[in-house]
Amino acid sequence: MSSKLGFGWACLLISLMVLVTEVRGRVKIFNVMNYRAVADGATDNSQAFLKAWKEACEWKGNGSVLVPPGSYMVNSVRFEGPCKGSVGVVIGGLLKAPADPSKFSTDSWINFRYVDHLTVSGGTLDGQGQVAWGLNDCSKNSNCPRLPTTIRFDFVTNAWIDHVSSINSKNNHIVLFGCENVNMTHIRISAPADSPNTDGIKIGSSHGIRISRSTIGTGDDCIAMLSGTKDVHISNVVCGPGHGISIGSLGKNNGDDVNGVVVKNCTFRGTSDGVRIKTWAAPSLGTASNFIFQDIFMDQVGNPIILDQEYCPYPPCRQQPSLLQISNVTYRNIWGSSNAKVAVTLRCSGSKPCQNVVLEDINLDYRGPDSPATALCSHVNGLSVGHQSPPPCI
Ligand SMILES: *[C@@H]1O[C@H](CO)[C@@H](O)[C@H](O)[C@H]1NC(C)=O
Ligand SMILES: *[C@@H]1O[C@H](CO)[C@@H](O)[C@H](O)[C@H]1NC(C)=O
Ligand SMILES: *[C@@H]1O[C@H](CO)[C@@H](O)[C@H](O)[C@H]1NC(C)=O
Ligand SMILES: *[C@@H]1O[C@H](CO)[C@@H](O)[C@H](O)[C@H]1NC(C)=O
Repeated sequence: MSSKLGFGWACLLISLMVLVTEVRGRVKIFNVMNYRAVADGATDNSQAFLKAWKEACEWKGNGSVLVPPGSYMVNSVRFEGPCKGSVGVVIGGLLKAPADPSKFSTDSWINFRYVDHLTVSGGTLDGQGQVAWGLNDCSKNSNCPRLPTTIRFDFVTNAWIDHVSSINSKNNHIVLFGCENVNMTHIRISAPADSPNTDGIKIGSSHGIRISRSTIGTGDDCIAMLSGTKDVHISNVVCGPGHGISIGSLGKNNGDDVNGVVVKNCTFRGTSDGVRIKTWAAPSLGTASNFIFQDIFMDQVGNPIILDQEYCPYPPCRQQPSLLQISNVTYRNIWGSSNAKVAVTLRCSGSKPCQNVVLEDINLDYRGPDSPATALCSHVNGLSVGHQSPPPCI
């Protein structure tokens, strides 16, 4: 009964989405069913999807690939531009990846490349990662294979990704590389807390990325921002389980820069870390600056505020002070509970002390036998203002 009802709603939603886009932009629909897709959850639909994409992409107007409700097995697919007009992909159903990791010759399952004016909306992407996770734990398996990211956007510009769910990715859920002006709304990401390397959204070499109204629970970072990333705005995101929202790790190579990140009005639940900046203790040059973490609730978080310039998840680490300059970092109105006594860690580099770090209105509580919470700083220049609990170390 309830699944019939759900199906009905999905149909209605799809019809409305198609209608709205059709009226707005004179869209031509390319329904995968007209390209022999079979919604039985087992037949490989890669060719049907690729043909529908090709025609939508070559349509000199606004083309839209439609995947009606149902369950579709899809092998590794690459949706490539440039296209002649804008392209939409409307997914009404469930896409399933092959469970066997050896079926993938590339580093992604679903890949969009070189597309301008792309919209991806709806759908659940099931990476079927359970088999792969056993292989992906590099701490137990030194020969760990390259596993595919669920959905990867390379050199995609002016895009909107909306109401997309990703479950049980084999590796990262969503990766953006070389992208510009991408908005992501109502994204749902989920994988078990112990699934290795399942970052939620990983962003590298991209500018103008906005993520809002999304829920991410996974085995690695909820969101990670890496080298070459600028101007990222994250708001109304709930993160947990996972390793928090991270900038880095940076500083393994020269020029690992990240500049301009705002994380606002977010909640962290039971994550190992909250808002995190991490650089390797290696002599590479770079800058990480202009970050604001504001209006954030921490619910039983391991390291709610952590800036670590001696990051070393596994040896060998060259134990030299980091030469990556961190500056202009504001933590404002962050409250809730810490699972560790040290609720605030600002461990900067002895060679390049952090500049202009501001702690403003911090209220983090720790209820262990060795309470209260403390803050730990090294090589930090900046100031603390407003309410401070734990007592500030700047
Ligand atoms: C495509 O859609 C956009 C708005 O979504 C509209 O401005 C544009 O005119 C449309 N292009 C064509 C060729 O229909
Ligand atoms: C993304 O959102 C911003 C701010 O709301 C808006 O200015 C921009 O046009 C949007 N971009 C796309 C591709 O939808
Ligand atoms: C902040 O988040 C809460 C809960 O997630 C939401 O109800 C509220 O509208 C958000 N505030 C703003 C300014 O977006
Ligand atoms: C840090 O902020 C100051 C004041 O807003 C600004 O002048 C400076 O350029 C910023 N530093 C970096 C590295 O962007």
